[in-house]
Amino acid sequence: MRHKRRLVALLATAVVLAPLAWFWQASLVPGTYSVMDMGRVDYGGGPAATGGHHAGHTASVADLVAGPGEPDVTVKLTARSESFDVGGDKKVRGYTLNGQSPGPAISATVGDLIEVRVHNEDVTDGISLHWHGIDVPNAEDGVAGVTQDAIGPGEDHTYRFAADKVGTYWYHSHQVSHEQVVRGLFGSIVVRPAGGIAESVDVTAVAHTYAGTRTVNGKPGNLAVEAEPGMAVRVRAINTDSGPAQVWSDTAYRVAAIDGWDLHGPTPVTDKALTLTAGGRADLVVTSPARVQIGSATAVVVGPSGTDAPAKPRQPTAKLDLLSYGTSAPTTIDVTSPDRTFEYEVGRRPGFVDGKPGFWWTINGHLFPDVPMFVVREGEVVVMRIDNHSGDVHPMHLHGHHALVLSRDGLPSTGSPWWTDSLNVEDGERFEIAFLADNPGVWMDHCHNLEHAADGLVAHLMYEGVSTPYEIGGKADNSPE
Ligand code: C2O
Ligand code: CU
Repeated sequence: MRHKRRLVALLATAVVLAPLAWFWQASLVPGTYSVMDMGRVDYGGGPAATGGHHAGHTASVADLVAGPGEPDVTVKLTARSESFDVGGDKKVRGYTLNGQSPGPAISATVGDLIEVRVHNEDVTDGISLHWHGIDVPNAEDGVAGVTQDAIGPGEDHTYRFAADKVGTYWYHSHQVSHEQVVRGLFGSIVVRPAGGIAESVDVTAVAHTYAGTRTVNGKPGNLAVEAEPGMAVRVRAINTDSGPAQVWSDTAYRVAAIDGWDLHGPTPVTDKALTLTAGGRADLVVTSPARVQIGSATAVVVGPSGTDAPAKPRQPTAKLDLLSYGTSAPTTIDVTSPDRTFEYEVGRRPGFVDGKPGFWWTINGHLFPDVPMFVVREGEVVVMRIDNHSGDVHPMHLHGHHALVLSRDGLPSTGSPWWTDSLNVEDGERFEIAFLADNPGVWMDHCHNLEHAADGLVAHLMYEGVSTPYEIGGKADNSPE
């Protein structure tokens, strides 16, 4: 009798533990693998690649480079692991480019060929640089393990790409990015029109939080900018943090561009705050004097020199809705009958990821690495439905493409065409976006809350016929998140 009871207890334990052990074992991620072997192939209702998504590869990611030519802009960047000042007496242990964080501001004129020579002096994990928002050729995208190997200590790497779109962008490491970006390995990149901008004053304001200190261009508090009264000033706000920031002004502002791309017919905004997505950019135009808040702790203060900064304006409770801002205009993309439609549905549930128990993000119901590989063909019109019911906000970022926002929660976009590369998707929201598959490669499509990405909120978009020779892990220890 006692034996029997013990046997029953043992069996009961096994019934509970065996599936757990199975789930644990099944969640283990190999040390080295190709993202092409990862997850679930998704054709979005379009034709499957003949012979599977690995078949008939004609192009390697490594060959998808910019055309030949002499560079118009050459930048040399040296990455270092060191402590630096973030104002007050505070020093932060992190990473610099040419001894500073943010790294040097790169500026170019539209049409320029940019060449960036990167040297990693002593960042032991290796580094890479991704050109966030610039739809570069795939080999220049800077994702360790997907488009290149991480640049090890003592090593060099050269990036070359055309600045073919005017706008405000930024660059950052895409190797161990949840650590390296947070600790300083990033900078701004601005592409201006050939004749210059319409405004008299042009300010780039990179917002970043270093170990709890909120900064603009690496310094806490306000960034003072000299401008005579009446002058038009363009403030290029860049959010390099992992969460959204509210932006507002004490006077009327216009949102001239989002994520680098101009809005059509932007009207003056008062008493509304703009949500600046993590990873996103907003170009605000104000008339001097004015005070543009980027979050409540930092501001860009424009005015004649020697005058006092205007007091911090009360934060508006109303929010500017980009879905209805500006005036509509024809777009370059016809979405009436898309070639593929993908679901990118973000949830959360308990389970194992790489053997670790936790409450993890899911994509389409599955845990990392069982995440989608969206497959497209060049030239296709693609619709993606992003649906977030995970209990948290996710700034969704697709590499290599700009997407047009079609609707939110079924409400169609009625304002200016809203092209984005970093989209703030709140809990409970559902966005429909569309893009043209015009940039062959293997591209990341992930959450830009970099902790979330490191926890598996990452998918990929690949073009039929393209394959990557790089691997996650491997000799270079590639770890893009
Ligand atoms: Cu700003 Cu995948 O990056
Ligand atoms: Cu997220």
